[in-house]
Amino acid sequence: MVESRSIVHHISNLSIDSRRALDGLRVVEYRHLIVENEIEQVALRAARAAGRIHLKRLSRITVNRKSNSIDLVTEADRESEAAIIEVIHRAFPTHAILAEESGASAHQSDHRWIIDPLDGTTNFAHGFPQFCVSIAYERRGRVELGVVFDALKKECFIAQRGHGARLNGKPIRVSTMPSLGASLLSTGFPYDRRERRRFYLCFWEELMMHVQGVRRTGAAALDLAYVAAGRTDGFWEFGLKAWDVAAGALIIQEARGRVSNLDGSDLDLNGANLVASNSRIHDELIEVLAGARPEAERREAEMIRETKASA
Ligand code: IPD
Ligand code: CA
Ligand code: CA
Repeated sequence: MVESRSIVHHISNLSIDSRRALDGLRVVEYRHLIVENEIEQVALRAARAAGRIHLKRLSRITVNRKSNSIDLVTEADRESEAAIIEVIHRAFPTHAILAEESGASAHQSDHRWIIDPLDGTTNFAHGFPQFCVSIAYERRGRVELGVVFDALKKECFIAQRGHGARLNGKPIRVSTMPSLGASLLSTGFPYDRRERRRFYLCFWEELMMHVQGVRRTGAAALDLAYVAAGRTDGFWEFGLKAWDVAAGALIIQEARGRVSNLDGSDLDLNGANLVASNSRIHDELIEVLAGARPEAERREAEMIRETKASA
């Protein structure tokens, strides 16, 4: 838009033909803005609908188990997912959906919404106040918009590609922390954490020696949003899913932070072993994680041997 405004500024010097072409350009840009705005409005409407359900359900929670005894699902997960999908489908009936509880829609589309209806289900099930809804909109495989909404704290983190990141309407930026040594990080553990505890804990143990503190808050989408807002300086976790990270990763990038795979390569949403940071400490963080890996693998192999021997 800035560019097009400066073009418009020089309109008086243009010939009639170029003015017509410019009018066309402005109409296209204007339409593009309306569509972008509609996407944002729909994402916010869907996030608010989910948030209302979180708050309503918080006082009477029904918990069920998913993949194992620590992987939980509540009525609030299912109800809020249905409400989000309804809002999106009412506005965009042909868009595809990838949602945690109901999976991927059968049809293909250039437009896809990636939804975690309730991130932090274990916290929610225990009444621990750290959970949110995470909604991302993707066009032709690239995330264009992300919303992470914590209804309890009334905090809405949002980013649209190229337009920066905001918290409740105010621009946010990652921290300016220059080095890992003084950093506050957060992390999380996937649902195979009992079987792989020695592997995951090895990275925490190593980082404990390199940073000021590590938090395990229990909601990855909020962990990412907090990096974007400069509340923490970095985050890592193994085995995250696209719905955990799609929105938060864009929010960090738009807040001038960095998000990558564990080895520093471009983030793969589908196999998310993720490192996020304010960008300044990114390489150091990756280096420490890489340094811990051989010992993590050794301890995991040892644990597998012990389990087999005692079986
Ligand atoms: C989980 C949370 C948690 C993270 C797990 C996620 P859920 O999502 O984000 O912080 O450590 O890996 O699966 O199950 O609460 O949506
Ligand atoms: Ca999640
Ligand atoms: Ca979830």
